[in-house]
Amino acid sequence: MDKIIISGGRRLLGEINNSGAKNAALPAIAAALLTKGWNSFANVPNLVDIKTIKKLLASFGVVFKEEQGNLLVNAGDINSCLAAYDLVRTMRASVLVLGPLVARMGEARVSLPGGCAIGARPVNLHIRALQDMGAEVELKDGYVIARARRLRGAVIYFDMVTVTGTENIMMAATLAEGTTLLKNAAREPEVVNLAEILNGMGARITGAGTDVIRIDGVDSLHPTAGKIIADRIEAGTFMIAAGIAGGEVLIRNCQPGHHDALIAKLRDTGMKIETGNDYVRATAAGRPRSVDIKTLAYPGFPTDLQAQFMSLMTVAGGLSVITETIFENRFMHVSELMRLGAEIVIQGGSAIVKGVPVLRGAPVMATDLRASASLILAGLAAEGKTELSRVYHLDRGYERIEEKFSRLGAAIERVKA
Ligand code: UD1
Repeated sequence: MDKIIISGGRRLLGEINNSGAKNAALPAIAAALLTKGWNSFANVPNLVDIKTIKKLLASFGVVFKEEQGNLLVNAGDINSCLAAYDLVRTMRASVLVLGPLVARMGEARVSLPGGCAIGARPVNLHIRALQDMGAEVELKDGYVIARARRLRGAVIYFDMVTVTGTENIMMAATLAEGTTLLKNAAREPEVVNLAEILNGMGARITGAGTDVIRIDGVDSLHPTAGKIIADRIEAGTFMIAAGIAGGEVLIRNCQPGHHDALIAKLRDTGMKIETGNDYVRATAAGRPRSVDIKTLAYPGFPTDLQAQFMSLMTVAGGLSVITETIFENRFMHVSELMRLGAEIVIQGGSAIVKGVPVLRGAPVMATDLRASASLILAGLAAEGKTELSRVYHLDRGYERIEEKFSRLGAAIERVKA
């Protein structure tokens, strides 16, 4: 397995191009299941998770090609509605095929994703919503089997804010009979991006970006050309990197308006953040100040940046309380950060981080995608060599991260196993 080796202590200087968002591309590709003919998506990142969803859709009979950097997806002939365990277990977001398959084919058999490193992560809210829309749902041999001749519009109240749950049911409702209202819907920019793409297919969706989304069902959808938004988690990771390593990083092709929570916190640490139409310039001089954060659904502080922000706080001057409210077990990076010399105590859903003057490099490994990124950031700041193994987690969600960091002046390389 590949490793990433970092010799820390270099300031970052330069610019990077923000890639397309994994979490927007995955539902867009799943949405192609609702149409017959070629859809075209621009700005799809080149990531392992994208390959996984392509493999999953290919197993239903969907075909793909690339043209001028765009991903073309054709779900004209679907010959299977079975999302098998082997693929689903490697990527929980595979559950995004559930809604579109039931809506288009009247049936879906999707393996239950099971738990993952950051928590139990059930899909009960997806299932409940489909039942509310008239689907018959059965759990058998580890699979969700959902059937409906035609889904019917309903008022759906989500007990918790769920991003893929909102996306799944929004897709299902596009072809339902009548109107569906999603209440307590997720307001993430990726949900808005999906609604725009679905509307491009002829869907009738309003309210995306608020907590009530209205979908007036239509009889059929047609292919579209859509653009995937910038990856706010990647952009945020590079802003935080400027904070921990010091220096100045310009992030191009991003959407500054998606970063309000992070930018406010970074400014509190003493960083200078300048924003333009489609760029953010993050500058740090000196040791960051300690700041408390609490993860929340959008527009709150994203859980997908909690680990990276914790890395920054390990070298801050003071005590920081980091509270995770979305996933119950998302502190797996803490013990690895402590191997680098961080001082962290976990108390319930919070981590109390006492900043230290220096971290020192060590071999580390990660159990999930964003935790891996947090260890790279810590390695950039640490004295000496940090060796990160289990890099495959990173490749699921960051496009050529080591190349981007080395262009900023970091001493970072990937060693092929
Ligand atoms: C999505 C993102 C992920 C991000 C997360 C929270 C994608 C592909 N992934 O994941 O990167 O970390 O949002 O911003 O977009 N829950 C239930 N029952 C359900 C569904 C969710 O209890 O049926 C709970 C989860 O366990 C969790 C919370 O709701 O505690 C939020 O999860 P959710 O928003 O669904 O996360 P994902 O959509 O899987």
